Amino acid sequence: MKEVLLTGLRTNAEYHLGNYIGGIKPIIQMAQEKADQYQVNLFAPDLHSFTTEIDHSTFYDQTMDNINLFLACGLPYEHDGVNVYRQSRIPAHSELAWILSNFTGFGEMSRMVEFKEKAERQNEDRVSVGLFTYPTLMAADILLYDASWVPVGEDQRQHLEFTRDIAERFNNRFGEVFTVPKSLKEQQEFIGREESPRIRSLRDPAKKMSKSISDPAGTIQLSDSPDEARKKIMSATTDSVGAVHYDWDNQPGVTNLLQIISYLSDKPQPEVNGEWDGNERYGDLKSATADVVCETLEKIQNAMKEVDEGSLESILADNEARMNQQAVTKLEQVQKAIGLRR
Ligand code: TRP
Repeated sequence: MKEVLLTGLRTNAEYHLGNYIGGIKPIIQMAQEKADQYQVNLFAPDLHSFTTEIDHSTFYDQTMDNINLFLACGLPYEHDGVNVYRQSRIPAHSELAWILSNFTGFGEMSRMVEFKEKAERQNEDRVSVGLFTYPTLMAADILLYDASWVPVGEDQRQHLEFTRDIAERFNNRFGEVFTVPKSLKEQQEFIGREESPRIRSLRDPAKKMSKSISDPAGTIQLSDSPDEARKKIMSATTDSVGAVHYDWDNQPGVTNLLQIISYLSDKPQPEVNGEWDGNERYGDLKSATADVVCETLEKIQNAMKEVDEGSLESILADNEARMNQQAVTKLEQVQKAIGLRR
């Protein structure tokens, strides 16, 4: 039996270059490299999207668009070790989440930092029970498929720890039903990434690149036309030092560009820095950045046009049927263990 590597990529209205470099690209690369040794599951946690207010009228298209994007970015979905699916299409996720929620303490959930932060930003009446129990659904996403490897960012540390705790608690009480996923430390060693990229706003490089509504000129959307993207990069904020150096403290603008080049061209950072260090022509650095960004956007955008919604639906139907079987098998084990089934 192959070990399972699993991750959920948040459904998002628009992805920007920071999402691509920090989240989508590394996960897809991992799927490309590891599909022979591991079962790789990449799914859209679409039920999780309801935990905060969203536009339901565009939500379906948005989810499909996101999945199309993952394929366009090179997810090897035809490989029989790779599975791509929507959480909502596999009912076992919801049922296992409900079961797990009954073995989860109210206090334990109340301590989740992500909940506390998101809840603080909303009016108390709007804070949903779904937001509160979010981690039990995430645990179900992972435990249903016996995933050992769950490459997530630092912000998901507590949720991963919770998944490990509840799996152990359940196993201690009912026998070895679940595979306990590896700790975040082991996960990070496995990924082999010492530091996550920090892609900054082109306009204000002290800030992270974020959604375009808050910072249209500083953000490259994956849907931007190459011309738009090039314009934004050519007018990116730099500094008055006068020569390029990789230096986040004093030259965050040019450093951001150097980093974008490194990640998009798959060249190690020191190599890119070596090519540009001391160069006084900021315009050249900007054009070089625009070249790799435009190349990336064109490639993704062309690939997205190639898949029509019909074939996307059929790819998903196929994958979801397969994953449903696997999930139901695990759910039945759980049902047996807790007295719902003989
Ligand atoms: N909570 C994750 C995030 O916000 C997304 C997610 C949902 C996930 N279920 C998961 C990630 C299961 C890994 C495994 O990014």
